[in-house]
Amino acid sequence: MAERVALGMIGCGFFAQNHLNAWQDLKPEGVDIVAVCDVDPERARAAAEKFGVPRWYTDAAVMFRAEQLGLVDIATQMQSHLPLVKLALSHGVPTIIQKPFGQDIAEVREMVAAARAQNTFLAVHENFRFQKPLRRIAEIVRSGAIGTPTWARVSFRTGYDIYAGQPYLAEQQRFVLIDLGVHVLDVARVLLGEVEHSTAELQRRNPKARGEDTATMLLRHTSGAVSVVECTYGSRRLPDSFPETLIEVEGDKGAIVSRIGNKVEVTINGRMEVLDEDPAVLPWAERPWHVAQESVLATNRHMLEALRAGRPAATSAEDNLKTFALVEAAYLAAGKVKPQA
Ligand SMILES: NC(=O)c1ccc[n+]([C@@H]2O[C@H](COP(=O)([O-])OP(=O)(O)OC[C@H]3O[C@@H](n4cnc5c(N)ncnc54)[C@H](O)[C@@H]3O)[C@@H](O)[C@H]2O)c1
Repeated sequence: MAERVALGMIGCGFFAQNHLNAWQDLKPEGVDIVAVCDVDPERARAAAEKFGVPRWYTDAAVMFRAEQLGLVDIATQMQSHLPLVKLALSHGVPTIIQKPFGQDIAEVREMVAAARAQNTFLAVHENFRFQKPLRRIAEIVRSGAIGTPTWARVSFRTGYDIYAGQPYLAEQQRFVLIDLGVHVLDVARVLLGEVEHSTAELQRRNPKARGEDTATMLLRHTSGAVSVVECTYGSRRLPDSFPETLIEVEGDKGAIVSRIGNKVEVTINGRMEVLDEDPAVLPWAERPWHVAQESVLATNRHMLEALRAGRPAATSAEDNLKTFALVEAAYLAAGKVKPQA
């Protein structure tokens, strides 16, 4: 039997509820949530009560000194990621950090270097590639069934009121690209491999938002394949696909097209089959979030397995640096950020 993992959770806000539910589901697989921490004492206490966690803290430094953690999961907003990751690594605690990894690439590089110097597990909770339909599409592409992939579209277009659950997004100067673009760019890397050239256009369609709410990217991958990667919180189309990422991939033997409802159409050698990849609605999940919520469980399970096997996660710090570099490149290409001297 593998040793049990004592988990500490930092940040008990909106999205952390999914993490906490998922970790609780992983209790039979050897995870114990031993402590939760939030600077807001009400949130920390409420999470401890709801999930039967023995201890709660309002200061992560105090938590690290008091607890013997085998893993820490950080689900705070990006401005706190660098100091919290450095704190966790200074205690030698394997660490999972929510996306976006950092506020900019300099912070991301600093965290990657710190994990390398400490030789400590650091992974990014990049969950889109763990969504059931996306896992299946990646598997089909990898199997070679559609031949060599030459073109793809990765698309997340919604008019869902994202500001209701995450009001801070309206205030971010770097908005949809760093928040959502980071997910869809990661999926493009998973499907078509690394990128050698990219360009981007950003738009602000909703005056409520301070930053860009729409991003359209065009990538050339090192394989020669090309992808269009797009995301918006400003779409008015119906039916609204929130929170699904819709994919098209074309290869020399076939194609894959996903449709709303987590349906995946696979055409191989001129024959089309429709796969139903709608995930289970977990007891703590609700439609339409269930595809995201099931992916949190799949992501956490992957993290646990990688940690125990002593290997980096698929979305390790080093891997996510490559995705983050695409975000930074898109801001540069769109002229939002002045190049460093
Ligand atoms: N992967 C996804 O699909 C997905 C979806 C939504 C949000 N997110 C990400 O999750 C992260 C959190 O977003 P949210 O909407 O839950 O934010 P939130 O503001 O609701 O929650 C963050 C919590 O962290 C706490 N906090 C802040 N600094 C802290 C510190 N130093 N120590 C302890 N607690 C601290 C806050 O008090 C708050 O309760 C963001 O990075 C966001 O991008 C990811």
